[in-house]
Order: sequence, then C-alpha cells, then structure tokens
Amino acid sequence: MRALQALVEPARVHRDVYTREDIFKLELERIWGQAWVYVGHESQVKAPGDYLTTHIGLTPVIMVRDMNGKDINVLVNRCGHRGAQVCQARSGHANGLFKCPYHGWTFHTDGSLRSQPSPGGYQDVGFDRNAAAFGMTPVARTEQYRGFVFSSLAATGPELTVFLGQMCATIDNMVDRAPTGEVEVTGKTCHRFRHPVNWKFFTENLHDAMHPMVAHAGTSDAVRQYLEQLPPAHEPLPEAEVIAPFGGSYHFFDEMGFVGLPRGHGYMGGKTSIFSHYQVYPDYLQAMEQAYGRERTEEILSFNRHNGLIYPSCTIRDNIQSVRVVIPVSVNETIIESWTFRLKGAPPAMLQRTLRYSRLINSPASMVGPDDLDCYIRIQQSAAASAIEWIDMQRHFGRETRDGERQQAIGTSDLALRNQYTAWLEYMT
Ligand code: FES
Repeated sequence: MRALQALVEPARVHRDVYTREDIFKLELERIWGQAWVYVGHESQVKAPGDYLTTHIGLTPVIMVRDMNGKDINVLVNRCGHRGAQVCQARSGHANGLFKCPYHGWTFHTDGSLRSQPSPGGYQDVGFDRNAAAFGMTPVARTEQYRGFVFSSLAATGPELTVFLGQMCATIDNMVDRAPTGEVEVTGKTCHRFRHPVNWKFFTENLHDAMHPMVAHAGTSDAVRQYLEQLPPAHEPLPEAEVIAPFGGSYHFFDEMGFVGLPRGHGYMGGKTSIFSHYQVYPDYLQAMEQAYGRERTEEILSFNRHNGLIYPSCTIRDNIQSVRVVIPVSVNETIIESWTFRLKGAPPAMLQRTLRYSRLINSPASMVGPDDLDCYIRIQQSAAASAIEWIDMQRHFGRETRDGERQQAIGTSDLALRNQYTAWLEYMT
C-alpha cells in the first residue's frame, strides 16, 4: 500500500502508474473489479434473446435481454464446462439459448445450465447441474439508470445511483433532450479506436483544457482560415460548427469551468460549453416545446455540461448524444468505443449532427482524436524510457473551491487530473 501511496502526490504523479504491469493488474482488481462499469444501453437488446458482448476490465461479458422480455442480464462470457468463451460476435440474437462451440453445453439467457450432450456421463458422479459454477455466471451486480446499464464485479458497494451521484444529471439531460423522453443507440456498431497507451491518458485528457488550442490547432486553424475567406452571408457549415470550438481561447475554456465529484467523476461546462453556439433547429425546438412546454425546454437545452466522465469507464456528451467507453486491454493498450444515440421524436437533422460530431471528433479517422492519441503515445514512451520520474498536475493547484462534495475550478485548472488521482488512490489502497 505504501508503494502505491508514494506514487501519487497532491500535484504530481509518478510515471510508474502508466507503465508497471503489476499496477495495471491491481487496477483491474481494485478499480475495474469494484466500480460500476458501463456495459451498454437497453436499446441495444430490445427483443428477448438479443445480446451484446463487451468487457469489464479484462472480463468478457454478455449483456442479454432475458427471455422474460423484462430483465437485462449481464453474464460472464465463459462456458461453465471448461471455460471456453461462448459468444464471439459483438451482438446477435440468442434465440432462447447460448451454445458453447466446444462441447455443446447450452445455457438459458439467465446463465443457468440448460443441457449437455450425452448427459448420462454426469449422472451419479456428484455433478450438481444447478450449481452456478456450471452455468454462465451472472456478474455480481447489474443495475440500470434510465436505460444505461452498468455492472459491478463486486458483490458489495454503493448502489448505482449513489455511485453516479451528480453524474445522474448528465444522463438525465441526455434523455430529456429527446421529445419522447427516450434515447436509443443507433446501428449495431460503433467507432472502435485502438489506443496503444495506458487507459488513464484518455480519461485525463477529457478535461485537459490546455491542449485543444495547441494539439488541435492544425484542424481548427484550417477551419478558421476557410471561414474567413467566405462571404459574410455564407450558408452555415455544419462541420465548422463542430470543429471551430476546438480552437477556442484559454479564456473560453477557463469560463467553462470544471467540476470535480467524488469517485473521480467530473464534467466541464454547465452554463457554457463547446456546444453553446450550436444552432438550434426550429423543428427540434418545436417538438421539444410541444413535449415539455417552453420553460422546461429552455431549462433542458441550457444545461450545458461538456464531457462528463463517469470514472473509470465512460464519458458522456449529453448535448451531442455521444458515449465513449473505455476498455483497458493491457498496461499500454486500450480500446475506446464511441457510440451514438438517437433522440427519439427529434428530427433527423439532430441524429445527422450526432453522427457528424462522432465522425469528425471521435472516430479513428477523425480530425481531432488522432491528435490526442499522438500526444498520449509521446507521454507513454517517455514514461517508459525517461529518467524523469514525475508527471506534473499542479496548474491552479490549491485554487479550487469546495461546495459539499463538489470541487470547482476554472477550466484550465489541473483539478480534473488531481481529482481522478484522489479517486485512483482511494480505490487502489
Ligand atoms: Fe464449453 Fe466444453 S468448454 S462445452
């Protein structure tokens, strides 16, 4: 424990946290094995037997709609016979059962053992076919919040809403932005972006507001120069709306502010965000006002959080209906999945904007994400090789204010980094 505590100081972190295999293994056990981890959205398993596969840490899991049509089960994707992974497709339909491809054992959608070929071999040998160990074991806990499904590998711990705390409001706002009060994942797949770096670089970068105007200058400068040579009365350029804020000034990001919450969660924005100047489509506004009335619509649309982090497993941009999922693979490999959601009852232009954002900002071929990855790789390489032991996070150190469990700072403070490492140390020790 002492060794771990020695790696995190109030305003700097030791490079070992990104490079040591033993620390990564402890993270799997103590962070990814304890926290509520985002698994998927209920709209991805609409019909009984629909399933989606993913990972919680390194544990392969299946999220499946039970044949009762109501429950959503999250099972370890492992056969109760000799442990083969049962499903390899990212999604599919179980048709009432899962069948292991090795010896053909089958399982119900709640994970219990259904049948074995030539079952006589198990009679009178002490085999208990009802024992959980011979099924596909459900993970310890699964709960939903407004259709967002989270699981924890730990049998004990806070309930999901306690764990989420004030991040519930981010999920609420994403769902409330739908005129029907429902969102759904679009399509069967996502942008899957392999990062050959430690998972923490991604979560740390989310609220690092000192980098956009530098790391993304190539793209945002090009957009600005292009806009400058257009006539003043030009047609709106949807791509410019998305990219231009990434070239915002230090003042712009400072004004946005950052709020740090318990358990490493946090968000930028509130009153303003990079979405503040997005155009409001009249037909969307009309649909919202019909559904909620003018006052409530204004309240929903003026909620301007940006990049909510539900530490450690997902980030939510409620304004643009995008969820990114963090899947650690090894000490220096991480998969980032970017899922897009549809606001039910909203005009198609809203979904088109969501997809445009995801394509331009989050995808592996985007104009922003690869800039970030290039910087993570540079730190990962120097952390592995450098004689410099410590990595700094002291910008505006000590200037944050506290209001109950909330800590607040201007947007370019390193409070977000410090807040994540406070949580990291709590989980790890
Ligand atoms: Fe699955 Fe044998 S390992 S049936």
